[in-house]
Amino acid sequence: VVYHTRTDEDREFPHAEKKTIADLLRKYESLLTLTPQRMRMIVHAIEETLDKGLQKDGQIVPMIPTFVFGWPTGEEVGEYLALDLGGTNLRVCLVDLQGHGKFEVTQTKYRLTEEQKQEDGQKLLDFCAECLDNFITNTLGRTENDPMLPLGFTFSYPCSQLRIDHGELIRWTKGFGAPNIEGHDVAAMFASSLKRLNVNAELTALINDTTGTLIASNYVDPNTKIAVIFGTGCNAAYMETAGNIPKMSSVGLEADQGMAINCEWGAFDSFDHQHLPRTKYDIIIDESSNKPGEQSFEKMIAGLYLGEVFRLILCELIDSGDLFLGQNTYKLEKAYAFDTAFLSLMESDPTDELLTIIGVFSHFFGIETTLEERQFFRQLAVLIGTRAARLSACGIAAIVSKKGYLEKGCAVGADGSLYNKYPNFANRVHAALVDIFGEKGKRIVTHHAEDGSGVGSAIIAAMTKARKEKGFY
Ligand code: GLC
Repeated sequence: VVYHTRTDEDREFPHAEKKTIADLLRKYESLLTLTPQRMRMIVHAIEETLDKGLQKDGQIVPMIPTFVFGWPTGEEVGEYLALDLGGTNLRVCLVDLQGHGKFEVTQTKYRLTEEQKQEDGQKLLDFCAECLDNFITNTLGRTENDPMLPLGFTFSYPCSQLRIDHGELIRWTKGFGAPNIEGHDVAAMFASSLKRLNVNAELTALINDTTGTLIASNYVDPNTKIAVIFGTGCNAAYMETAGNIPKMSSVGLEADQGMAINCEWGAFDSFDHQHLPRTKYDIIIDESSNKPGEQSFEKMIAGLYLGEVFRLILCELIDSGDLFLGQNTYKLEKAYAFDTAFLSLMESDPTDELLTIIGVFSHFFGIETTLEERQFFRQLAVLIGTRAARLSACGIAAIVSKKGYLEKGCAVGADGSLYNKYPNFANRVHAALVDIFGEKGKRIVTHHAEDGSGVGSAIIAAMTKARKEKGFY
């Protein structure tokens, strides 16, 4: 007889001593599955929220005009520096644009520590400037006598922009919390780091990874109309016409002038939580995060959080006595101990015995598993990964429907660890688009995007330089 503390769910099974794996699976299936009808409701709500964001400033989903004006011609050329502060790494590149959609990239990556994400904002930017300086001097072998190279800075957090070389950080996302930078112009702060450290680079453009991905993907495939990042965070960009951006009407742009919009859709349903089917695991993740209430959509999709959803479910089953009785589970009980990469590994385990899953549990957590448990874990990973893909599809569908892209179809450039490494992620997004739109959904195809924060940022820097030379801002 197995004794354990009873939870609310146990009342559903009053006579059961211990729930069977099949019972458990049914429970999580019903919590984590999104029906086509539910998805269509979410699409509708996202579309409305995107519209609101274009109307005025300060909305939940900010729909940020990026001052990237229209598509690249494919003829942009020259050497540009690109600096990319994403969610996990810092990357510095030299991009040589050769025209006709061709380019070469030289790059170095630097790891960011957890402490750096929380230390003073200016200090964080100083570190970025130091890495850039190190790259220019040591990797490229350039000296201060060489001409200054233009720099595109990909800063992938919501920044409201008045020009392309300006961006006020609205709020940190993805677990960053560095003080003294929210509400400040990141471009000006970074320019001051460059000056103080005497770095031979000139900040030309501050961009978001989604905008960079949009432009880089369109540079090589003009059929690309939308870009999405499925990485540590989740967000999208697309090209809007100025006439459809009421909050920009005072700027005096021609109505048909294209302007890339960084949606920041990760913020959808923040604070009110009216639309998304959040489970208690999502709520725990939210409430114990450094930004409770914020980024609700992102917290159900992005790579930073999926492993944690899985871990919280396991902890619940440990508490209820349904899993790992008699084993020491303290390693698994540590928040964020279960990396999303483990879910990918578990889903792609090719062996009948599920040997990879044995390895994950024994090696990282010192826990023994039965085959039945491992099959359950794999199914649970499928449920969590599928929910993320289906929610992402809702976001894509909202932009497609808003822009009327369904009739002609369009390509969606996608990038980020989840899209690139999580097995079946893209297939699940495509299947969900068919669930939402019917057969026509097949006309919307995602593909692995060109490197937005490297190549995209260089193309944007080139486009900006060309505009300035013509006397535009
Ligand atoms: C977060 C950021 C957003 C970024 C996305 C993907 O949602 O707020 O700016 O594009 O992560 O990196």
